[in-house]
Amino acid sequence: MNILVTGGAGYIGSHTCVELLNGGHCVTVIDNLVNSSEESLKRIEKITGKKVKFYNGDVRDKALLQKIFSENKIDWAIHFAGLKAVGESCAKPVEYYDNNICGTLALVEAMRAHGCKKIVFSSSATVYGTPEKLPLDENCKIGGTTNPYGTSKYFQEIMLEDIFKADNEWTVVLLRYFNPVGAHASGLIGEDPKGIPNNLTPYIAKVAIGELKEVGVFGNDYDTPDGTGVRDYIHVVDLAKGHVAAIEKITRGGVFVYNLGTGAGYSVLDVIRAFEKACGRAIPYVIKPRRAGDIAACYANAEKAGKELGWKAVLGIDDMCASLWNWQTKNPEGYKK
Ligand code: UD1
Repeated sequence: MNILVTGGAGYIGSHTCVELLNGGHCVTVIDNLVNSSEESLKRIEKITGKKVKFYNGDVRDKALLQKIFSENKIDWAIHFAGLKAVGESCAKPVEYYDNNICGTLALVEAMRAHGCKKIVFSSSATVYGTPEKLPLDENCKIGGTTNPYGTSKYFQEIMLEDIFKADNEWTVVLLRYFNPVGAHASGLIGEDPKGIPNNLTPYIAKVAIGELKEVGVFGNDYDTPDGTGVRDYIHVVDLAKGHVAAIEKITRGGVFVYNLGTGAGYSVLDVIRAFEKACGRAIPYVIKPRRAGDIAACYANAEKAGKELGWKAVLGIDDMCASLWNWQTKNPEGYKK
């Protein structure tokens, strides 16, 4: 099939392009490169030996979308493009709602105009807000998000559902990611955060290579086995394969919601220990106060994706850390080299 991947040069997008190309699909990418690099597209081509058709631009650019859909017969759109930093979203709500909400609206408008009504949306476990129970399944209530980033994901889910309600020809797939980590086994593509990372594993990796002094562990007084926050870390390659499973398995109209996680929870200290094993170095850390907005624990019941898509995460925490370390050591400055 012919797949339009918005945000295809980014972290999850680039890994998904690789899996799509390996699965025999054709890939067209639109990306404005605000938080990604064109180099990642070259690396995708190197890994797969296949071409990626690239449009450099913003998903809110209606004229560009018109051009893309006129020049290509697109079967599915996989929509990653958007802003994703929680802290920044609190400081820049206007930019976040504009990018994320208006981007999705522009995309679905162009899709509708060209009769392409199949979309996979990059959602997040953040839509569950404070979990009503653990593990989280797809029927748990959503909403109660605490920052504009999370709220924009929630709104986009609702918008896409309404679009299906008005026109049952649409196929809307909402994939709720837990915590994506790791990198492609080749070490050619991975996460390339700008500045000091906010998320745990890229931060640990920078400490391991000596770029940052120590990991701050945000709270050790949560109601969890060792007191530190527990999350469901999922290998980005498994996550990418979840998208391929969705477009290949879902053949009828409807709204389909899946958690993409492993079902296992690891604490911050578990992750630090796993990373120490992967890199063979000690990772210095210091306990800090809790980070505002964090929850104690969050992990998935991912059985629905197993049953309906035949997809299951297979890579464990050791693979996640080893692949991240491989990427980090081969690309100490990310895509700059
Ligand atoms: C965060 C976002 C989430 C988003 C996801 C994308 C928040 C509140 N949530 O998830 O909406 O979808 O990133 O990947 O930011 N930690 C430390 N020290 C650090 C960094 C993190 O102890 O330097 C801890 C956190 O307190 C948490 C765990 O590590 O317990 C994971 O944090 P992080 O990687 O930032 O992801 P989330 O907060 O779960």
